[in-house]
Amino acid sequence: MSKRVLLATEKAFAAVAVKGIESIFADAKYELVKLENYKSKADFLGAVKGVDALIIRSDEVDKEVLEAADSLKIVVRAGAGTDNIKVDIAKEKGVVAMNTPGQNSNAVAELVFGMMVYIARGQFNGKSGTELQGKKLGIHAYGNVGRLVAKIAKGFGMEVFAFDTSAEKIEDMKKDNVHIVKDIVELYKTCDYVSLHIPKTKETTKSINYGLLSLMPAGATLINTARVEVICEESLLRIMSERKDFRYATDVMPEAHDKFKEFGDRYYATPKKMGAQTEEANINAGLAAARQIVDFFEKGDVRFKVN
Ligand code: 3PG
Repeated sequence: MSKRVLLATEKAFAAVAVKGIESIFADAKYELVKLENYKSKADFLGAVKGVDALIIRSDEVDKEVLEAADSLKIVVRAGAGTDNIKVDIAKEKGVVAMNTPGQNSNAVAELVFGMMVYIARGQFNGKSGTELQGKKLGIHAYGNVGRLVAKIAKGFGMEVFAFDTSAEKIEDMKKDNVHIVKDIVELYKTCDYVSLHIPKTKETTKSINYGLLSLMPAGATLINTARVEVICEESLLRIMSERKDFRYATDVMPEAHDKFKEFGDRYYATPKKMGAQTEEANINAGLAAARQIVDFFEKGDVRFKVN
C-alpha cells in the first residue's frame, strides 16, 4: 500500500542526494513530502501530520513532534547520533526509530583533519605553525568515525592511540594496529591531540571535564566533531584561560562561543555543523534512510532499529 514520507531537514541535503531519495520513493510508489531548510518548529509540527515515515538529520523529534505525527510508524535519522530523537516516547507510541550507521563517517573523519591542520597553522594567520607528523593523536571512542580517523592519521604520520570500552571495538584497534589505551586518563596524559567520537548520553554529558583536560601535555589540542554537550564548558574555558598553549577546534558551537572567541587563534568553531555536509555523505545517509523505510514497510526489515 502506498505510503506518505516526510523529509524534514532544517539543514538540507545536497540536491543530488534529494534526487536519489525521490527516485527510491518514486520506484516504491510512495509519496514524498519535502520540508527543507524550514525555519520554525510550527512548520515541522504541521508537516508531520498524516505521514507514515519520517527522514531527519539533527532535527529534534521530541514528544510534541511525536504527538503531532498521528500516523507515524518509522523515523529514520539519516546519520549516526539518535540523541535528537526521544526514542523511548517513540517506542511507547509504536514508532520504530532507526539510524544509518557509518554512512556519513568518512566526511566527519576528513573534517577532523581539516580542523587539525587549520588550528595547528594558527588559522592561516601567516605565522609559523606546527605539523601533524610525529604528533600523538588520541581517539576517544573507536566507532565508525574513530576508526576512519585512525586510518587517515597514519597517512599524516601521526602516532595513534585509542580508547573505547567495547570489547568489539578493542578488537578493531588490534586489527588496525593502533595503541590500545585501557584507561581514559592515559589517553589525555599521552596525546598532543584528542579527537572526540563519543555519543551524547546521560553518562557522557559534561564528561570531558577539567580533570581530563588538565592532563593534556604542552601544546594540547582538543577536537570535537561529536556533540557540544559532552564538553564541560566551564572546565574548557578555565583550562584555556589558564594555559596559553591549549587549543580547541569544534564542529559543534559551544553555548559560550563569544567567550571562547576571546582566545583568538586558539579557538575555532564552524558556523554550522559541517561534519556530514558533503554530497557523498548526504547521498550515502539519505539514500540509506530511504531504502530502510521501503524495506521496513515491504519486508518488515528492522535491522537498524535503535528503540
Ligand atoms: C550524525 O550524528 O550523523 C552527525 O552528527 C551528522 O549530523 P547532521 O546530519 O545534522 O549534519
